[in-house]
Amino acid sequence: MVKIAHISDLHFSGNQENRQLGSLDRLLDHFNTEGFDHLVISGDLSNNAAPAEWRIVREKLESHGFYHWEKATVVAGNHDLINLEEEMRFYNALNPLPLARKKAFDRKLKAFCVFFQELITGEERGDNAFPFVKIINYPSVKIAFAALNSVYPWYPADNPLGARGSISTGQLRALRVERVLFSLKECFVIGLCHHAYKVYGTDSLIDQAFDWTMELKNREEFLGLMKVMHAKLVLHGHFHRFQSYSVDGITFINGGSFRYNPLCYSELLVDGQGSSTQKFVQLP
Ligand SMILES: [Fe+2]
Ligand SMILES: [Fe+2]
Repeated sequence: MVKIAHISDLHFSGNQENRQLGSLDRLLDHFNTEGFDHLVISGDLSNNAAPAEWRIVREKLESHGFYHWEKATVVAGNHDLINLEEEMRFYNALNPLPLARKKAFDRKLKAFCVFFQELITGEERGDNAFPFVKIINYPSVKIAFAALNSVYPWYPADNPLGARGSISTGQLRALRVERVLFSLKECFVIGLCHHAYKVYGTDSLIDQAFDWTMELKNREEFLGLMKVMHAKLVLHGHFHRFQSYSVDGITFINGGSFRYNPLCYSELLVDGQGSSTQKFVQLP
C-alpha cells in the first residue's frame, strides 16, 4: 500500500502566522508518524505570490524531511503567481500590452519552478517547468504524477480576479506524445493541477455571477488528456472545499483549504492491484 497525503491552499502570507505554522508542523509530524510515502500540495502555498512566502512552505517541508523529489510534489496556484493588487496598479499606471503581461507572468512561473526545482527534477538547480511527469517505483506499484500548471495570467476582461484557469496548449500537447504515454504503461497515473474540473455553483445570484471567474476554461481538453493518459485520479484545490467527485470514471479530489481547516487532509491509499481508496482525515 502506498500512502499519499494531499493538502491545498495554505495561503501563507507572512512569518507572523504562528498558529498556522504550528498546524503545518503538526500535520507534517503526523504524516511522518503515520508513514506517508508522498505529500501533494495542489497550489496556493502563498497568498501574495511572494518568494518569501514560498520559502515558508519550503522550509517546513525541509525541516520535516519532505523536501525531496520522491517525498513531495507541488503545483502552483493563482495566489503563487499573481498579486492582484500589484497587477492592477501596474495596469492602471502603464497599461502594458497583453504580450508584456504574458512575459511577466511566464517569468513568475519560471521563478516558482526554479524555487521548487528539487521537487520537479530532484536536482537543486535548473529551470525545468510544467508540465512534468514524476514516476516513482514503489515495491508494490509504480505511481506517475502528471503535473500541469493551470494558472492563467491576469487580464482585466478575461481574468479579472486572476482566479480563472487555463492549461496551455503546449502543456496539453507535451503530455500527449507517444514517448510520454509509453512511459506511463503499468503506472497508476495521478493528474495534478490547481483548478477544479467541476464548476462549483451556488444558489446565490451574486455568487453565480462570479462562477466563471474561478473556472478552468478548457476543462474538457484537460479531461480529454487525463483520459488519454489513463489517469485514475486528479488532485486539485482552488475552491476551498474538501470534496471528491467523479467524471467519466476519473475521481477528482479537491484537497480543500489548509487556510480554513488546517488540521484536515486527504488520505489516499494505492494498492498493488491498481485500486485506491480516499478519505478526508481530521486531526483532533
Ligand atoms: Fe486558494
Ligand atoms: Fe486558487
